[in-house]
Amino acid sequence: MVPLMCGIAGYKGTEDATQVVIEGLRRLEYRGYDSWGVASINNDHIELFRREGRIGQVSISRIGRSSGISIGHTRWATHGGVCESNAHPHLSFDSKVAVVHNGIIENYQELRSGLQSRDIALQSQTDTEVIPHLIALELTQDTSFAEAVRKACLRLKGSYAIVAVHQDFDEIVVARDGSPVVIGTRMDESDKEFFVASDVTAFLDRTKEVVYLRDGDLAVINSSLEVRRIIDASHVDFKIETVPWSLDEASKGEYHHFMQKEIHEQPQVVVSALAQDDSALAQASSWIGEAGRVIVVACGSSALAGMVGQAYFRSLAGKDVQVVLGSESDSIIPCLSSQDVLIAVSQSGETADTIHAVKTAKAKGVRLISIVNATGSSLSRISDIVLPMRSGPEICVVATKSYISTVSILARLASMVAKTDITSFSNLSTSMKSLIASVEPQVAALAVRIAKSKDIFVIGRGLLYPTSLEAALKLKETCYIHAEGFAGGELKHGSIALIETGIPVIALADDSTRALIVSNAMEVRARGGWVIGVDTKPNEAYDVFIQVPDLGLLQPLISIVPLQLLAYHVAVVKGLDPDKPRNLAKSVTVK
Ligand code: AGP
Repeated sequence: MVPLMCGIAGYKGTEDATQVVIEGLRRLEYRGYDSWGVASINNDHIELFRREGRIGQVSISRIGRSSGISIGHTRWATHGGVCESNAHPHLSFDSKVAVVHNGIIENYQELRSGLQSRDIALQSQTDTEVIPHLIALELTQDTSFAEAVRKACLRLKGSYAIVAVHQDFDEIVVARDGSPVVIGTRMDESDKEFFVASDVTAFLDRTKEVVYLRDGDLAVINSSLEVRRIIDASHVDFKIETVPWSLDEASKGEYHHFMQKEIHEQPQVVVSALAQDDSALAQASSWIGEAGRVIVVACGSSALAGMVGQAYFRSLAGKDVQVVLGSESDSIIPCLSSQDVLIAVSQSGETADTIHAVKTAKAKGVRLISIVNATGSSLSRISDIVLPMRSGPEICVVATKSYISTVSILARLASMVAKTDITSFSNLSTSMKSLIASVEPQVAALAVRIAKSKDIFVIGRGLLYPTSLEAALKLKETCYIHAEGFAGGELKHGSIALIETGIPVIALADDSTRALIVSNAMEVRARGGWVIGVDTKPNEAYDVFIQVPDLGLLQPLISIVPLQLLAYHVAVVKGLDPDKPRNLAKSVTVK
């Protein structure tokens, strides 16, 4: 069963629960948006409403009467097509239990067969549907609804975040094992309210007081909140924490898209990312300095930010840090020991491949440092030292400010290990702010021409080689253009065979790499390609020149900015939604 990466939500309180849940789902659509649904309890029966497509401006009146309890889901379909019957919530055979779920039920086929052998007809192709049926089967005269959910969970193998309701019980039950779920609360009010969601952005406008459930927790929400362990129903204490973000940080403001807003936030993000807790930084840098081996484990843009950090640790501190993709880490983790350090990088803190590597390394006594944006996330809870990205909620599926934050933190760490200072930190934020203002009109105009491209190549050398890979990833995932980034020195080892008339090649350069990049550019032009130079100085080899300030070692932090903006504007020219690219979800919470 290929898993779903979805948004789940729930509400119990005095407001119109259906309305509250729908609003929450709209804020979770960046997690998946093929189909959606809500289930609300009305006069002891469940009203179910499910639709294909995005939530859009559905009128609440069409969904049903107001209710005090509602759950909802926005789906990212993988297995089991996009259709109403596969949308969540799913009901039990007696229509008394409704469930929404995010994750994988690995033993779903076995469970489905067991249900069918009891003449329970399955209505969908999803794995999720087994859950409400199992709950209903566990409900007997002397079993509470929460206990029935807990017993059903004990039969599940895989990872899940489940929210369940029953028409006859005035409560919501939440269970978590491997997929994120958080409970918002306003327990200090006379009319207590509880919000449930995959992440806090769903209800940030209503409360910032949250309880992060841990793997293996089961929460029972009725007139109060109680947390138990799934394994043995034992009660556990929970902590109410305050989310450090405000809602307007999680809303678009005057921007058309989150992607543009979050790129424009980067000058501030640099400042907040560098304002780390000094003791945590000092501890982390001394662990890295003393370590036998240091590996960075991450995926996607987080791994590419790690590659810039790798170059810093090697060039500044002479420390041979190695970046390993989360999905390819099984081969190296066995080589680690308690003398080594693993730096995990993850904006969401929930990327399954990265967490898998971290848990395996932790079991071997490896010391864990994490660079994470989402507070309270799984990764932040299992790490020894957490260096928060502090970039605020990154709503756009495409990573931008989290990448900038990570590179900034790794540069700072490497300079501390090397016991040296990177002077250009002092004007990085102001340089980035003025660059965005000056270069965006030029990039928006260039986007019209680039939007027609089928292939784009991006070349860079030294510190700008990983930058070329990140630029290519932005163009791929935001504009659906086949973009390839590679080391300029590799051009002649094969890739140049792809250069034809009209193929755009983006050449990233600075003082230390310009001579060789210019010769690459001339080779490209000799074969009909046209070259967009992103450089600190102009050169006749560039057909188009995008000027960036010279920030020395911090060049990767500034040279990526025009290309983030290019990806954004090309997507807009092509009529695409850069915040929710097709086939993608913000957090890959499963392998
Ligand atoms: C980046 O634009 C992508 N959306 C994706 O590669 C992302 O960086 C990757 O999935 C890692 O996510 P994480 O930082 O939350 O672990």
